[in-house]
Parts: sequence; structure tokens; C-alpha cells
Amino acid sequence: MDELGFNKIAGAILATALGVMVLREVPHFFMHTDAPEVPVYSVGAIELGAGEEEALDLPFPQQSFVDAMDADEGANVFKKCQSCHNVEPGGPNGTGPNLYGVVGGPTAHKSDFNYSSAMNSAGYNWTYEQLNSFLTRPAAHLSGTNMSFIGLKKEEDRAAVIEYLRVNADSPLDRPEAKAAPAPEEPTEMAEGEEAPVVNEDGDVVEANVENPTADPTDTANQDEDAATEGEAVETSEDASNSEETASDDGAAETAAEEGTETNPTEDETEPQ
Ligand code: HEC
Repeated sequence: MDELGFNKIAGAILATALGVMVLREVPHFFMHTDAPEVPVYSVGAIELGAGEEEALDLPFPQQSFVDAMDADEGANVFKKCQSCHNVEPGGPNGTGPNLYGVVGGPTAHKSDFNYSSAMNSAGYNWTYEQLNSFLTRPAAHLSGTNMSFIGLKKEEDRAAVIEYLRVNADSPLDRPEAKAAPAPEEPTEMAEGEEAPVVNEDGDVVEANVENPTADPTDTANQDEDAATEGEAVETSEDASNSEETASDDGAAETAAEEGTETNPTEDETEPQ
């Protein structure tokens, strides 16, 4: 190959490489792809609404529920039920059963109503807690129920309508007593030096900070393994302290929520009727 031919080929290769570089860089010149300083969305802890949290871990009923038991309010909420139910003593069944005297009574309390088999075999009593859960989302509480009603999302609506049902009875059940929220759980602290036993690949218990006395000191592979196990142990204790933090945070949040409800009398108390 003569020198000119070689130069031509080398030139072509260089030109191609240059072209590729230019094509890769030029679009960046026109398109600004800088990441925004504040992330558009971030994935973090999922926060529950105050109401949901209450439903998750507080005993039923809370003071807020008892305070919201107002028969006049309940008569208003009952408008949502009226297309299917009435509460007249001896009143007719409609799409749903007559509800006079239902509070405290057995599930499927009317012998002359054609209940779903789910309701017929439910076999419990309509306590405040059961009613509250059923009315939150009937289909979730009793799968297979015929009550095609989405549910009452607000606790105060459920409390009010339940009070309305309660007073529409020959001998109304006593009003429920509010239950105190449990004291926030103390995180279980790990005593120092009492870390969880670390197990190596062979299933033997290896103490995290003590060299394995049976290990051959020349066996570097085994030492590496130990080092890895130690690394894991450190991670585990870090996790533990993280979860402690979370637990105490939760505790603080609960206490705050509690204080909120106590210092915030939302509804007038209705005297038992
Ligand atoms: C679309 C009609 C419909 C609406 C609206 C409706 N219900 Fe019902 N309800 C039913 C039917 C049907 C049943 C029987 C369910 C079954 O057999 O599974 C029922 C059952 C019940 C029961 C159980 C009765 C028993 O004898 O065990 C209660 C309590 C109840 N409804 C309360 C309410 C309240 C309170 C509302 C309004 C917030 C309401 N329902 C709205 C149709 C309805």
C-alpha cells in the first residue's frame, strides 16, 4: 500500500471518529438535560392521614367517635340510607331491612327479610365496633353482602348515624365509653455487647468481635468471610437504631394526635336519650 493510500484510510477513520464525537456532543448543546435542583417527586415514607392512623392502631371507640354520636346529625346522615332502609318501629323492609332496634342485635336481625347468605351466616352482634367497621365499607367488612352502598368515609358520619340507629329502638343500648389510647410502646433496647449472634456460611455462630479461635490464621479466605460477617453485624445494629428512631417518632406523633383530640372538643355531647 502506498503512503497516499494509507493516509486516505487513516484520514477517513479519523474523520469518522471526529464525526461521531461531534454528533454525540452537539445535541447536548441544544438540549438542556440538567437535573432539577429540587426533585420533581421523591419516594419517601408514606404518610397516613390522621384518621387512617387512628383506625390502624387505636382501640375503639376513641373519644372523637363518642363525641360525634349525635342523633340529630345522624338523622341527616341517614338520608343516604333512606332509599333502602327505614327506622320506624314495625316499619316495612325495602331494598334493605327495617333497621329499628338493630344496634346491639344479631346480624340479619329481621326474620322477614331476605338477606344474602353472607349476612345470614355472619353470626355476630351489631356492636358499635362491628357497625362502625361495616358502615366504613360494607363490602370489605362482609364480603358477599347485598348492601350495595360504598360506605361512610368520615368517622363523624358513622358515629352520628349509629347514634341515630341506637335511639331508634325499644330499649336502646348504652352509649359506648371512649377508650384511652395505649401508651406509646417503649422501643426494646439491645443491651451493649449483646448483639444478635452472627452466623457464618456454615451455620456456626460466630461472635462478631472475637476472632474465631478455631480458625486457621493462615486461612485468609476464612478471615475475609469473618470480615464480611462483621460488616453485616454493623449494618444490623444500624438498622436497629433506625427502627428505634422511627418508633419514638411514631410515639411523638401519637401523643400529638391525642393532645389534638383532647383539646379540641368538636361536637357537643348529646345526652343519652
Ligand atoms: C342501596 C341500598 C342500601 C343503602 C343505600 C344502604 N343499605 Fe344497609 N343494607 C342494604 C341491604 C340490601 C342489606 C342486607 C345486606 C345483606 O343481606 O347482605 C343492608 C343491611 C344493613 C345492615 C345490617 C342489618 C341486619 O339486619 O343485619 C345495617 C346495620 C345497615 N344496612 C345500615 C345501613 C346504613 C346506616 C346505611 C346508610 C349509611 C345503609 N345501610 C345504606 C341496602 C342498603
